[in-house]
Order: sequence, then C-alpha cells, then structure tokens
Amino acid sequence: MAMQMYVTIATCCLLGLMTSFPSVQGRAVGSAADELEGLEDTVVPLGEEPLPSLHRMRRSPSALTEIMTRLSRNTRQVPEHVRSQEVYKRMRTLLLLLRMLLGSAAKVDILQFVNWDRTIEIDQLFYTAPTTIWEVQHILRVASMLGMRVRATGVGHSRSPLYVDEGNIMMDVRNLQRHDGPRMELHQPTPERDFTTVTAMTGVIERELNIFLTKNSVTMLAQPVNDVETFGGMVAAATHGSTWSAKTYSGYVVEMRLMDSAGRLRRFTNESHPEIMKAAKCNLGMFGIMYDITIKVFPTFKAKVKNEFVTVGDLIYNTTRLKETVESNFLTEISWFPVNSLTDQETQAYERDDVIPATWDVKQDLLWLRTINEATEDEVAGLEMAPPGYLPTNGSLSGGKATGLTRGRGAIKVAQELPTVSYHYLVNAFPVILPPRWGTETSAAFMLNIDDQFKRPAEALQFMIETAEQQIKANNSSPLNALLPRFFHNDDCLLCPGNNDITMTNDSHRTLVIDFLAPPAQAGFYPAARSFVEHFRSQKVRPHWAKRHDNIPGIIDIIHQVYGDLIPEFSRMRKLAHVDPCDMFMNAYLLQIFGRNTDWSCPR
Ligand SMILES: *[C@@H]1O[C@H](CO)[C@@H](O)[C@H](O)[C@H]1NC(C)=O
Ligand SMILES: *[C@@H]1O[C@H](CO)[C@@H](O)[C@H](O)[C@H]1NC(C)=O
Ligand SMILES: *[C@@H]1O[C@H](CO)[C@@H](O)[C@H](O)[C@H]1NC(C)=O
Ligand SMILES: *[C@@H]1O[C@H](CO)[C@@H](O)[C@H](O)[C@H]1NC(C)=O
Ligand SMILES: *[C@@H]1O[C@H](CO)[C@@H](O)[C@H](O)[C@H]1NC(C)=O
Repeated sequence: MAMQMYVTIATCCLLGLMTSFPSVQGRAVGSAADELEGLEDTVVPLGEEPLPSLHRMRRSPSALTEIMTRLSRNTRQVPEHVRSQEVYKRMRTLLLLLRMLLGSAAKVDILQFVNWDRTIEIDQLFYTAPTTIWEVQHILRVASMLGMRVRATGVGHSRSPLYVDEGNIMMDVRNLQRHDGPRMELHQPTPERDFTTVTAMTGVIERELNIFLTKNSVTMLAQPVNDVETFGGMVAAATHGSTWSAKTYSGYVVEMRLMDSAGRLRRFTNESHPEIMKAAKCNLGMFGIMYDITIKVFPTFKAKVKNEFVTVGDLIYNTTRLKETVESNFLTEISWFPVNSLTDQETQAYERDDVIPATWDVKQDLLWLRTINEATEDEVAGLEMAPPGYLPTNGSLSGGKATGLTRGRGAIKVAQELPTVSYHYLVNAFPVILPPRWGTETSAAFMLNIDDQFKRPAEALQFMIETAEQQIKANNSSPLNALLPRFFHNDDCLLCPGNNDITMTNDSHRTLVIDFLAPPAQAGFYPAARSFVEHFRSQKVRPHWAKRHDNIPGIIDIIHQVYGDLIPEFSRMRKLAHVDPCDMFMNAYLLQIFGRNTDWSCPR
C-alpha cells in the first residue's frame, strides 16, 4: 500500500512536469547555441540516433559487480536510519519519474555504491551505464528537468570526495561506445599538430590503452602504479606517474569531447581554446560527461628496469644522493615498508612479546629502489622485450597476508624476488600493482614543490619516516604500511596539483607526491596525514584530488590558499565554456571549494 502511495505521488508530479516541459526528446535546444558566443564551433552535430536495436547490446557487468552491489531493498533488513529511509522513499518516487521520462532511452536503477577499497560508501544513488552518446543525452536532459546532479564514474579507483552525492545520478562511462570512430584511434602528425596523438574513449581502461600503444609503437611517459583505472578518470584528476620529466595525464591532453548539461556534444582543442583547455584537462568532472580524449604520445623505446635495495639512511638521509638518484633516472620509484630490517631473531622476539626490539634502527630498513631508463642498443641486442610485469605482491603493496609489524619484511621479500634487471617497451616497464585482495587498504597523498636542492623532499620523507618510527617505538603499531614517494613534472593546467603557477623558492618545476598506504582504520593513519599537512602548511602542501583528503581539518582553506587565483580562473573558464550553468556536475564537496555558478543563464 505504501508503494501505491508513491505511484500516486509520482504520477501527480509527472503530470505537473509534463505540463511545464513538452517532452524530453523534444526539449528545445535551438536557443542554446546563442549562449555560446564565439564557441559555436565547439558544438559537434550528433545527427540522428540510430535505431535502438543497433545500440542495445550491453556488456556483462563483470568488473562492475566488484565495486557495485545491487540494492535489493526487498531482501534487506529494515534500515536503521530514518533519514536513510526517507531518502530511499524519495528515490523510489524519483525512480518512477526517471523511468517514465526516459522510457526505453536508458536504464536507471537504485544502487548502493561502495568504491574499490571500501573507503567510500554512499548509501543510495541512481546508477546508469549508458552505451551511446544519445543515451547520455537523454539522461542529462531528464536530470536537468528534475534538477538532479550527475557525475561520471569509471572503475571507482578514486578514494576522494569526488563521487556524486547521495540521491543523485552516477553515470558509469565504461560501456560508452564511440558513435563516429573506433574506441581507440591513432593519429599521425598533422600540420596543426606536429606530433602523434591517440584518441580514446573516456571509459577505456589503462591496460587496454597500453596494449594499443604498444601495438602502435607509441608510448606515454608515465603512469600510475596500477593499470585498471579509466583514461577519463586519470585525466579528470591529473593522475601521475613517477617520471622526473613527464607530466600527469592531464598535461598531454590536446583535445576533448564532452557532453554538457544541455545535452550538447562539445569539442575543445588545445589549439583553438587554449585557455578553456587549461581548465578542462583537469576538471574533476565539473565540465560534463567526458566522451573521448586525445593525448599526445611519444615514439616508444626499449627500457631497462633495475630493482635495487638501499637503506633509508643512505638515500633519504643523504640529500645529495636522493637528488642525484631522482634527477639522473628517467623514472624513480622508491618504496619503504616499515620495520623490514628485523633479523630472524628480532622477529621471533617481536612475535613473542609484541614489542619491537630496541635494536631496530629505521635507518637500516631497506628501500626498494626501482629505476627505469632508456636501454642502450648493446643492452637489448637480440633480446625479446618482456611483457608487463605485475609486482608479485598478491594484490597488496603492504606485504600480502602478513599482519602486524612483520609485514614490512614480507613486502620487501616479495620485491627482492624480482629480477635485478629486465627490459620492456616503456609502457610495459612501469611498476604495476594489483588492487588489494585482502581487507581494505587506502592511501593518502599530498604534494609539495621540489626545490632544486632537494631539501624539501628530504624533509618531507624524513618527517613521514620519523612519524612512523615514533609510533612504532612508542606503541608497537605503525600509521602506515608503505610509503611511496613519487616525482613528476608540472604543467600549466589550472587545477593540477603539479602546477607551474604554484611556486616556491629555487623551484625545480617538479612536484613530490608523498603517498602512504594502510587500512583506513589502522591506528595513526589519519593522524599522520593530518600532522603532515599541518607541518607543511606554510610550504603550500596540497592534496592529491584522487585520494582521501576531505577529513583533514581546514583542507578547504588550504586548497584556497595554495591555488589562489587558479580557483576563480577555473570557474571563469567553466562559465565561459558554458558547459554547466546550473551546476549539474557538482557535488557538495566541490561546491565548498568552487562555490555555485552565478551564471544568469541558469533557468532556475
Ligand atoms: C597546449 O598548448 C599550449 C600553448 O597554449 C602549449 O604550451 C602546450 O604544450 C600544448 N599542450 C600539448 C600537450 O601539446
Ligand atoms: C652522500 O651521497 C653522495 C652521493 O652519492 C656521496 O658521495 C656521499 O659520500 C654520501 N654521504 C654520506 C655521508 O654518506
Ligand atoms: C602469493 O601467492 C602465491 C600463489 O598464489 C604464493 O605462492 C605466494 O607465497 C604468495 N606470496 C605472499 C607474499 O603472500
Ligand atoms: C596503539 O596501538 C593500538 C593497537 O595496537 C591502537 O589501538 C592504539 O590506538 C595505538 N595508539 C596510538 C597512540 O597510536
Ligand atoms: C636557494 O638556493 C640557494 C643556492 O642556490 C641557497 O643558498 C638558498 O638557501 C636556497 N633557498 C632556499 C629557500 O632553499
């Protein structure tokens, strides 16, 4: 009977809506182009939507079920929270409306969303996975009519506050197919662009992209430590690697097509809209539903991977050596797994007493130092290039199944099993880990400018190592299981944390990412993140957008101070591009940073 009531409400609301809006498909956009003074050329004509049978194929949602669980309210326990129930009631009503308005144009369900490491749980949202650009268009027009927010999602690899707010629409872009070309496409240099580029759909997974790049003898210069993220997700949040002179994915974007909140397919290029592109190439989802992205690629080369082990004391406490190491290698990846230098005897004592032996010296712990450089012709003469190698960590950077403080030993042993030297085409040389298999593991990551004497990176790394050391000695517990500093080149992109406009004295134009991992509930993990941010607050510390950071006190002020004019500049470009006058693509967290759009052209 309750159900009956919602149907009644839905029908009445629907009738109300029907009278104010003629129909979804027929909604006038004729006047829309007038708003785009000077940007009319960014509208891509979509033509007629093909017959439904041509695009109704749906992929099996195998990867999807890993992170999304269907909300089956009929079989669920009675919800504990009245609020949650109220939200759900409202959503059932809205779902009927959404389904009626969309008809057969697209499928929407209510889902409970949990991201890959279970650090982000959103009770209820509307989930849709369009396969065509026309489906995206229908959904955005209906959302606009109902005043709902929409945000894109891919693999759910981010741990950041970038997901759509409860009760709004999460649009999974992984099944989206390109209507006017292949899913991935290589372009030879043109008179306008004297370099090779690749266009790929936003939902392409990095692993797929790497195979395509290798087949076409081209490469990216850096990539994150896992290869299951979507291309669009990496671009939208300026995902980085650890290559000294390579930028983040955002830094190589030259063209982007996206659907704006009016359901128009728009195309922006670095050549025609350089100022808008500075905003669009790291837009945190605020520019709309990204469709395909074109990036600059480089001729591939054969790379030599070296795995070495050096002590914390020798590398992190010798600024000269740290600087020389990072500057002289094409890519440097340093990993510290705490308390890995215990002897067998000390380990037995720890396992017996639960107390770290006083003889443990953090400076004697080993660092796994992985470097990548272009191989010489002699080195690779007659050699087959090895395929991509996954680090044998069994899906955990922090030591497989070992628990307690012996996991550091387990982790370093796994790394020590790797060959000392191996040769690959570059994209296959990058270190790759699998997502955690056991329990949860999360990471926090903050960025700092690298000065040309490496004082700040040394100070930052020593700070984290000593924070961990103190807790280990005082409490026999560690705030982190792995510390993974990374280094990359800055860009002119407005919201990129590695930014040419965020400068410090003696700047190297590079950014340090201090990334550390632990299960989110591990004692001291969030306090360590907080004290790091407090300590480096005067040195323009800033969060990695794609990592958990909204729980740091004062983070919004910190972001405002560090980015300064870049934030209003981004908002100005977003407004100029006219992609989202009514803030359809925002969420509550982003509104705190960027504020509401005060554009007069939002009809509400
Ligand atoms: C995009 O254009 C700017 C100039 O406006 C240029 O500096 C930058 O290198 C271009 N990006 C790429 C990836 O070519
Ligand atoms: C620091 O590293 C440099 C360069 O590798 C080396 O020459 C120097 O001896 C090291 N200093 C100490 C105190 O080990
Ligand atoms: C990883 O898994 C393999 C088999 O799946 C096993 O042989 C190995 O011992 C495991 N390593 C760790 C560190 O758990
Ligand atoms: C000390 O360790 C225990 C678990 O081993 C943890 O519950 C507690 O919060 C820790 N205290 C501090 C100050 O880190
Ligand atoms: C900048 O570099 C100079 C030497 O090149 C050095 O004397 C000075 O202390 C450095 N400043 C900072 C803030 O690191």
